[in-house]
Amino acid sequence: MMMRVKLFLILFNTLQCMTLVTGYRTRFGMKQYVEYQIGSVDSKLILTAPHGGSLSPTTMPNRTHGCFDNETEQCIYRHNCGTPTRSKCKVLMATDTNTRNLAILIADQIEAKTGKRPHVILNNLGRWKMDANRDADQAAFGVPETKRAYDEFHEFVNNAKLAISPSSGLLLDIHGVQSHPEAWVELGYRLTKSNLNKNTVLAEYSSIKNLAATSSYTFEQILRGDKSLGHFMLRENLSFNSRVVPSPDTPSPGSGGYYRGGYITKHHGSRYAGTIDAIQIESPRPLRDLLYNGDKAYAIDLANAVIGFLGVHY
Ligand SMILES: *[C@@H]1O[C@H](CO)[C@@H](O)[C@H](O)[C@H]1NC(C)=O
Ligand SMILES: *[C@@H]1O[C@H](CO)[C@@H](O)[C@H](O)[C@H]1NC(C)=O
Ligand SMILES: *[C@@H]1O[C@H](CO)[C@@H](O)[C@H](O)[C@H]1NC(C)=O
Ligand SMILES: [Zn+2]
Repeated sequence: MMMRVKLFLILFNTLQCMTLVTGYRTRFGMKQYVEYQIGSVDSKLILTAPHGGSLSPTTMPNRTHGCFDNETEQCIYRHNCGTPTRSKCKVLMATDTNTRNLAILIADQIEAKTGKRPHVILNNLGRWKMDANRDADQAAFGVPETKRAYDEFHEFVNNAKLAISPSSGLLLDIHGVQSHPEAWVELGYRLTKSNLNKNTVLAEYSSIKNLAATSSYTFEQILRGDKSLGHFMLRENLSFNSRVVPSPDTPSPGSGGYYRGGYITKHHGSRYAGTIDAIQIESPRPLRDLLYNGDKAYAIDLANAVIGFLGVHY
């Protein structure tokens, strides 16, 4: 019953949104720390940007490294846990620059080309305050105000998933890789570098498990073959310069830098349940830096690639 009521509210909001000339309606969490730009009723796509925020409220303590508990051999992510231990319980604070505007630009492009605006969920807080791509303890250090923003972010993602389901859909988690020298685009499906290298990848361990289980194409085709997101990115060519992993040109990372996808891809994709698949997109700095000069080429290419991938699978 609760679910019915919720779904009705979402549809109602979305319908209202369609009557606005400006496009979409936005819901904010407390103090606009997190933001949900509600997509079109018939959109199958969700974009998240957890590391692109810059708000730095003084009421919220900065995150630190965690403390290592010698007895349980686990990290404790609390502000008064003792001595923060960078070596064992490192916490990343760096902003994925330009990823907030990249997510919005991709949504704008997709809306302009297809008439369907994706759902967009943004963390407006600096990563040094809250990290929406970690589990709750490491994300918020038990600080009530921070934890609330974190919960609102994930509730917005759940609302967007609910608006799409029971249809299948796709969540793209937008990130920026900081320091991998290859400067390629890394697509994370939760599959490890080693499994990609050894060709021992299994669809049921991936964040696109639902797609793999329901598609008439093989997992290899969908993951890094002629029906993969990597394929559509290479086809758009442009700014990618053939540097996408995994893709038909670069099926595995070898010894190169590679992120397999984090908390959002793991928990909001279809690995454990549901019909919404997820892929983490790590864009290298040179491509994101284009946005500093107002050059939208990368965002446009990425949007076109996503439209191609969605058209085949969703
Ligand atoms: C919190 O971190 C931000 C970003 O690094 C920094 O500008 C600010 O001074 C820090 N605040 C405190 C209280 O340490
Ligand atoms: C944990 O072990 C390290 C290294 O043996 C030691 O330096 C540290 O003080 C210990 N911490 C606690 C809380 O016991
Ligand atoms: C694709 O990229 C290559 C290498 O950067 C370039 O030579 C070629 O002109 C590009 N093609 C298109 C259609 O953009
Ligand atoms: Zn990131």
